[in-house]
Amino acid sequence: MILPSDHPLVDGRTATSNLVRAYRGDRPEVTPVWFMRQAGRSLPEYRRLREGTEMLEACLNPVLASEITLQPVRRHGVDAAIFFSDIVIPVALAGVDVQIVPGKGPVIASPIRSAADVAALRPLDPATLAPVAEAVARAVAELGSTPLIGFAGAPFTLASYLVEGGPSKDQQRARTLMYSDPQTWATLLNWCADVAGEFLKAQVLAGASAVQLFDSWVGSLSEQQYVRRAAPHSKRALSHLRGLDVPKVHFGVGSGELLKAMHGIGADVMGVDWRIPLDVAEDRLGGGVPLQGNIDPALLGAPAHVLEAHVRDVMERGLAAPAHVVNLGHGVPPDTNPDVLTRIVELVHGA
Ligand code: CP3
Repeated sequence: MILPSDHPLVDGRTATSNLVRAYRGDRPEVTPVWFMRQAGRSLPEYRRLREGTEMLEACLNPVLASEITLQPVRRHGVDAAIFFSDIVIPVALAGVDVQIVPGKGPVIASPIRSAADVAALRPLDPATLAPVAEAVARAVAELGSTPLIGFAGAPFTLASYLVEGGPSKDQQRARTLMYSDPQTWATLLNWCADVAGEFLKAQVLAGASAVQLFDSWVGSLSEQQYVRRAAPHSKRALSHLRGLDVPKVHFGVGSGELLKAMHGIGADVMGVDWRIPLDVAEDRLGGGVPLQGNIDPALLGAPAHVLEAHVRDVMERGLAAPAHVVNLGHGVPPDTNPDVLTRIVELVHGA
């Protein structure tokens, strides 16, 4: 499969954008910046639009989802839109009963804990992804030369929600299943890889110019277990994009020990959390890998001069990589003053 001729990377709209150039290893004059979770609760215009609509319903409403995707681009002048959706959307579309509970996160009605539970999972019918493709196409039509980033949850992170039944501190139940029944674990992670892969593919074919695979909770694995029990499935998720030449970003929280192994699944760019400086990350990767990150979200609430010094330090350390896209080390906290984000964009663009 190849990108359609009217895709923004092919028809010239986004191929020379600062974001895509940086993701491909180039250093544009102005450093690009966007924020994980930039579309969401930190924006009053988001809260207004979401009033009376459940999260999953909002994600599957193409008009609403595209509008929410565009809000932070208009407000902050960031270099990319990230598609407004959630990592559990393809899981829900495959028929799993999941809700997103405000203040908590995804909650699974019947957690998947046995071989029989895994055997009962049905594959995702690609036709159910139509509202996702439509929302992406609508947003891309408005974005012009600003690239849209598509995303999915990596198999380990998706599986940890499915097994735990909801958010958990250290994914202990999931890891217990991983050790106790490697066969069932592998079957579950392959299922997750395929739903995530189809979700990514639908976004790319509809016009996403890059993708980010979030393995948010992967930091609970040792490197050895990651390589053996998670990485092959993450690779499988990306294999759904075979032939589609879009930059692939990979990110996990607390993944400083895993960076090199995570890069090895076929990522082009590594997202780094706030726990390790970018120059150290680049060193661990052995050099030559574009980086994204890694402003500590805790600093968004700090005095302006403290935040500014940190942003400058992040940019300085980012020079150790062939290319750098500024971002946070994890998502925007809901109580962030959005003006702070706008100021960071101005600072990065003016540096
Ligand atoms: O701007 C963006 O990043 C856009 C879209 C986006 C959302 N979720 C919207 C959302 C993305 C990329 C995600 C990914 C996601 N979802 C991840 C990976 C990224 C990460 O943060 O590590 C994970 C782990 C999830 C699961 C999830 N969904 C959580 C932990 C939560 C937060 C729960 C809460 O209320 O604190 C959600 C809900 C969610 N996803 C919201 C948004 C805007 C909040 C929903 C609301 O408005 O009530």
